[in-house]
Amino acid sequence: MEAVTVLLIGSGGREHAMALALCRDPRVVLHTAPGNPGTAQLGTNHAVGASDLDGLLALAEALSADLVVVGPEAPLCEGLADALSPRPCFGPVKAHAMLEGSKAFAKLTMEAAGVPTASHRMVRRTSDIEDALDAFSGAPWVIKRDVLAGGKGVLVTDDRDKAEAFAMSAIATDGEVLIEAFLEGEEASMLVLMDASGYRCLPASQDHKRVGEHDEGPNTGGMGAYCPAPVVTKAVQKKIESRIVKPMHAHLTSTEVPYRGVLFVGLMIDGHGDPYVVEFNVRFGDPECQVTMPLLGDDAYTWFEAVSRDELASVDLHLVDASLLTVVLASEGYPSSAVTGRPIDGLSLSSPPTTTLGSAWVNLAGVRTEDNGRLTSSGGRVLSVTGMAESLQEAADLAYARLSSLSLLGGHHRRDIGARAGVTHPEME
Ligand code: AMP
Ligand code: GLY
Repeated sequence: MEAVTVLLIGSGGREHAMALALCRDPRVVLHTAPGNPGTAQLGTNHAVGASDLDGLLALAEALSADLVVVGPEAPLCEGLADALSPRPCFGPVKAHAMLEGSKAFAKLTMEAAGVPTASHRMVRRTSDIEDALDAFSGAPWVIKRDVLAGGKGVLVTDDRDKAEAFAMSAIATDGEVLIEAFLEGEEASMLVLMDASGYRCLPASQDHKRVGEHDEGPNTGGMGAYCPAPVVTKAVQKKIESRIVKPMHAHLTSTEVPYRGVLFVGLMIDGHGDPYVVEFNVRFGDPECQVTMPLLGDDAYTWFEAVSRDELASVDLHLVDASLLTVVLASEGYPSSAVTGRPIDGLSLSSPPTTTLGSAWVNLAGVRTEDNGRLTSSGGRVLSVTGMAESLQEAADLAYARLSSLSLLGGHHRRDIGARAGVTHPEME
């Protein structure tokens, strides 16, 4: 068995989940930049930021990394995969990362590939806002800034004044704004591994974007998720593949450098089971990653490495049959402003968690280790607790039980993760 050096980029709960999955392969020697206390348990953290392209290139070189796995979108949009070439990289080149970096580019790509999505207008003059709002009246307005905003650059509102004010300020700061038709239905996230040789859809999951229970309050980066999402039935899955994934794969691999990485397809499934694309991301979702990655079993490295070499279609791959649910613990004030630097009680990092059926574990995100060894909060989303079991209800029970043993002053979490999938919550009754 030959050791392989993997450099993982990022520092969130998503990257902790990726690190846990990668390290299940005994060949993997893990390095993370910059990582968090969770990834430090599994390998070596390096103090190089995820947006420090030169630093990351030098690190990959110094480590002679066999594979670079990129968690967040920012370095991909900056061209990290291009700059690393020919070093194998899991994560697409800049020309494809634009799918997430620019919503206007994503809309044009979908038009070219014939993929269903909401109709839209790109507005650049404030004098055109009224007209665009008229064109989409009769349903809530959906206004999107065309910048990387971590899921927070979107306003969905019934209030025309608020819609107008948001559009005005977006044009003032960004020079343009996208106004699109409201899509009715239920959301789901489909993570698709993709390279020139083929694609592989992972089971669909569902995020909980609003901060509050019953999907109330402002949008966040994601407050919890579960997998599989029952809204994606076999019939819906077929439509997603034939109408969206196949044409996108054909489009993204007809270019000089094919797409190599994961395509995150954010979907709205309407009442007829017809899927529409809400957004593309060029990375795993957070927290969708936490509930999907454990399904790769011991094979995450094999999958990622195959993708980086255009060999996905030729490897024999199996998925674990299980249900997962994760609950995010967020800092006081998140998402508008997060109070950080508070101690987290009940969390011990004595040994890395096992991510197997019948267990629950903590994925660290905005957590730091102080000089005295104490773990404190350092971000908006502090951690998420993930349960894995034969059913979503059991996974939820495991996750919430583990969460109740943790405490963070002012911290908050949703008590209704999975409710749309029929999970019941004694705390809500
Ligand atoms: P996005 O950043 O494009 O994913 O948008 C953030 C969230 O806004 C999505 O997860 C949806 O909940 C909501 N959203 C975005 N676009 C639409 C749309 N066209 N119709 C309804 N809801 C939308
Ligand atoms: N959970 C949604 C995202 O990662 O964009």
